[in-house]
Amino acid sequence: MERTLILLKPDAVQRGLVGQVLSRFEAKGLKIVAMKLMKITPELAAKHYEAHREKKFYPGLVKFMTSSPVVALALEGIDAIKVCRNLMGATFGADAAPGTIRGDFGISRSYNLVHGSDSPDAAAKELKLFFPEGIVDYGYAAHDWIYDPVEELKKQ
Ligand code: RTP
Ligand code: MG
Repeated sequence: MERTLILLKPDAVQRGLVGQVLSRFEAKGLKIVAMKLMKITPELAAKHYEAHREKKFYPGLVKFMTSSPVVALALEGIDAIKVCRNLMGATFGADAAPGTIRGDFGISRSYNLVHGSDSPDAAAKELKLFFPEGIVDYGYAAHDWIYDPVEELKKQ
């Protein structure tokens, strides 16, 4: 099991797409282990986007992400990082394949609806930043119908 940080960005909240975007992750079989509506402070944005600090788009990105609330999610599943990135689609909406979140809901290069951690190290860092209180531990009723236990044991 792997965990990843997903952010439903300000454009998803302001366009009333939170439910539709969240339902893509739920329907895929990812378990919600933490979730909150929050405003990102400039300090948090600086830490979260540290790797992009020197990029040309950085000031605009921080301005966008701090301009209005986001929904922060911790999602859990086998290969959750890869599975979520595949569901999200290519970074720029105009390039993203139909059927993906960015491909179905957006066109912009920066207003692309959703963020997902891109590696286990990034996920660990980002989950700590957004959920310092930790995740919510509970049994997931759907688990045994999402994963075939025989297949999963064979892979190990
Ligand atoms: P994310 O971090 O949001 O999951 O997106 P990503 O990995 O697909 O893309 P990344 O390269 O990490 O870029 C972070 C976010 O910066 C904005 N961006 N704008 N205008 C531009 O050329 C540009 N390039 C990147 C996007 O919001 C992107 O998601
Ligand atoms: Mg990224």
